[in-house]
Amino acid sequence: MTYTDMFDAFPQECYTPEQEALLSKIKLDVQQHFSDHQKRLIHIEGVALCARCMAHIYQADPFICECAGYLHDWDKYLEPDEMVDEAHRLDIDMGVNPYLVLPLLHGKISARKLQLRYPELPTEVFHAIDTHTTGETNPSSESAVVYIADLIEPSRPSYDSIEKIRSLVGEVDLNQLYLDAYKSTLLYLIETNKYVWPHSIEIFNALITNESSCN
Ligand SMILES: [Fe+2]
Ligand SMILES: [Fe+2]
Repeated sequence: MTYTDMFDAFPQECYTPEQEALLSKIKLDVQQHFSDHQKRLIHIEGVALCARCMAHIYQADPFICECAGYLHDWDKYLEPDEMVDEAHRLDIDMGVNPYLVLPLLHGKISARKLQLRYPELPTEVFHAIDTHTTGETNPSSESAVVYIADLIEPSRPSYDSIEKIRSLVGEVDLNQLYLDAYKSTLLYLIETNKYVWPHSIEIFNALITNESSCN
C-alpha cells in the first residue's frame, strides 16, 4: 500500500454512531473556527484524511488520528504575545524564551484548551495534538501518524523532502517513517536558519539510538 493508493483504499470509515456524531460536531466547529483561513482549512482536512488512512496501514486508531488531525492546529493563529501569554497561563514551560519557540507553542496550547472543550474525546487525541509540533522520543502510533500526516498531507507542496517521506509510507515501519519525518523537519529548520529547540536534538538522538519505539 503506497501513499497515493491509501486514499482510494479507505474511502470511508465505520465509526459508532457516537463517534460519527462527535466527528460531525468537530468538523463543523473547525469549519467555523477557520472560516477566514481557507488555506489552513484545506491543510487541516488533508491532515485528518491522511492520518485516518495511515492509521489503517500502521494499526493505529483511525478515530483518534482523524479527530487529532481536525483539531491539531486550533490555536495556530494566536498573535505572538497572545501565544506567549496563553503558554504562561497554561504552565507550558519550554525551558527557553518562549518567543524563540513560537511555532511550537500552538500544539501544546491547543491540546490543553481542547481537552476542556471536548472532554468526551480520548486523551490520546490531545497527546497527539500536544506533540505534533515538538515530536517526542517514544510516540504512540497515533501521535506518530498525526506528526507524519501533518508533514505529508496532500496539499503540502511536492518538495523533494516531502516526496521522500510520502514514498516511504507503507514501505518502512512507523518508527523509521517517524525518524525520517523528524529528521526532515530538523534539516528544514537548519537550512532556513531557524531556531532549533534544544530538546529537539535530544529527541533526535534518542530516535536514532533506538531508545524509542512507536507503540
Ligand atoms: Fe501545527
Ligand atoms: Fe498542521
